[in-house]
Amino acid sequence: MVGYDPTSYSDPTEAKVENIDIKWKVDFNKKTLQGSVDLKFEVFKDKLQSVVLDSKDLAITRVSDGSTDLKFNIGEKHASFGSPLEIQLAGPVNSGSNFVLHIEYETSPVATALQWLDPKQTAGKKYPYMFSQCQAIHARSILPCQDSPSAKAPYSAQITVSDPLVALMSALSCGSETSVDESGAKWMTYKFQQKVPMPSYLIAIVVGLLESREIGPRSKVWSEKEFVDKAAAEFSETESMLAAGEELGGPYVWGRYDLLVLPPSFPYGGMENPCLTFVTPTLLAGDKSLANVVAHEIAHSWTGNLVTNHTWEDFWLNEGHTVFLERKIVSKLFGEQTRHFQASNGLKDLQSNIDHFGSDHPFTNLVIKLNNVDPDDAFSSIPYEKGHTLLFHLETLLGGPTEFEPFLRSYIDKFKFKSVTTAQWKQHLYEFFENKRPVLDSLDWNAWFNSPGMPPVIPQYDQTLAMECTSLADKWAKASSDDFASFKSDDVNKLTSWQKIEFLSQLLQKEPLTSSHVTAVDALYKFSDEGNAEIKFRWNRLGIRAKCESAIEPALKMALEQGRMKFTRPLFRDLGAWEKSRDQAVEGFLANKPFMHSTTASHIEKDLKLV
Ligand code: BES
Ligand code: ZN
Repeated sequence: MVGYDPTSYSDPTEAKVENIDIKWKVDFNKKTLQGSVDLKFEVFKDKLQSVVLDSKDLAITRVSDGSTDLKFNIGEKHASFGSPLEIQLAGPVNSGSNFVLHIEYETSPVATALQWLDPKQTAGKKYPYMFSQCQAIHARSILPCQDSPSAKAPYSAQITVSDPLVALMSALSCGSETSVDESGAKWMTYKFQQKVPMPSYLIAIVVGLLESREIGPRSKVWSEKEFVDKAAAEFSETESMLAAGEELGGPYVWGRYDLLVLPPSFPYGGMENPCLTFVTPTLLAGDKSLANVVAHEIAHSWTGNLVTNHTWEDFWLNEGHTVFLERKIVSKLFGEQTRHFQASNGLKDLQSNIDHFGSDHPFTNLVIKLNNVDPDDAFSSIPYEKGHTLLFHLETLLGGPTEFEPFLRSYIDKFKFKSVTTAQWKQHLYEFFENKRPVLDSLDWNAWFNSPGMPPVIPQYDQTLAMECTSLADKWAKASSDDFASFKSDDVNKLTSWQKIEFLSQLLQKEPLTSSHVTAVDALYKFSDEGNAEIKFRWNRLGIRAKCESAIEPALKMALEQGRMKFTRPLFRDLGAWEKSRDQAVEGFLANKPFMHSTTASHIEKDLKLV
């Protein structure tokens, strides 16, 4: 590692990629992408002889500069970081010049960015499906690149797939062409262009039998036809959220904002791929209650995609600001109380993630160190919620939204199309609020940035919407079986989905309930019939924590039928830690492993202590 970005072999300060041009043929039989990439470089150093790129499991057959074939060497493979790809240039080049590398290669069937699904794993059952997830450092498994968020470039692509499959990317669509090969098979070549410079982790591709529905003037939702109508209804608020985002962040520069609902194995809730956000089907609650994830991915259009964290050590800049903007969008649509309520709920996620790592673990710092650390291993809610907490605290100290929102706007304006470090963010904060220096100096910055555990200050969030949940949770926690008759099914009928989530989150933070409590709660509130994944997740965890044997089967079912890591990993951890459920959990995991996303499977293997 050169030391510029601890998770990349490349050094964009010597020569930086200024444009990427991709040509891939998608081979579902071999489970590979075959083709080439053209990388245009700008040079910042004299007498540059060679460049080093990131690569992971790529079979590279040829590198040329357009006229000459170049020597290249693929270094030793690191399990997370892959291999440095060193390319010798034909002769030394000087600062200010440009050159293009043309690299021909094929990806591996185990490329960590891709999941290949057999037809039987799709809703339609007839055609295969493939999708990518490049964040944080998996782009290198689909193309040789400078896989650091500090290196941003526009890209174009031509993707050839077998008809009638559809290919989409994190870019604007520029039409398609049909062709027929010698065997008479029909192929489609889809063309894409992303003119806005963006980091490699935002390169994204999906191929499947996809359909779309229009949901707004610049938005469509894509999925297999089986759930496209449900998705269109669920995400009908998209345009209002985009408009709210623009009020806060400034113009939306990406042209379109489409959504793609993936198969259930998609490992995240959402992924902010430009022009085409990827989301888990577990958001399809039927009542739009989980659309805050869409607000979150929309917010990344400014914080993350336009202004990007310099390295994954500054990941809180992406996620903390995005959660902050997400909740501002929620506030514009649903009111300030809802914003406070969701922030207050977020604190429970923060606490539970800190409990998981331990309150002195370095991954619980806001700014983390990633030397020899896989960013996937450091991933948690901590940068999201600790980051949000810092920004909310600053907003309060600095005079409220009328003072703080202009700061966010100027931060976006100053660093748009660029990558930014925590130090640069702080410097800009000091510049913007130069006449409030004493207020800024009153913060214990070292504690905020570099100390583990809960944040040094916890804001006083409005508790109006939480109150009912708190009193109901307290009452259940104190209740003995004689008191059960005093509860009514009506207790929760008037609660919103988010209030039910809060009620269960609060119970999860208390001493485990008894099995008879869980049975009594369910008899009245029917949580086991819930379709809302956030509610179902917490309900299943509560049952396992209460050592309720009847909770094992539904918890394992949820852990297996969808692969969103936020749900699947804690469920497997809980099931694996209890002797009564461990064997079933391990057996269920091993039987399903071949069909899981490789990232999810490798985390669960560790969660279940199988490796
Ligand atoms: N960019 C993240 C997902 C991600 C982070 C993928 C790091 C891989 C590595 C996305 O924007 C996100 O934060 N998703 C959340 C949404 C939530 C905070 C509303 C999720 O997946 O749950
Ligand atoms: Zn995010």
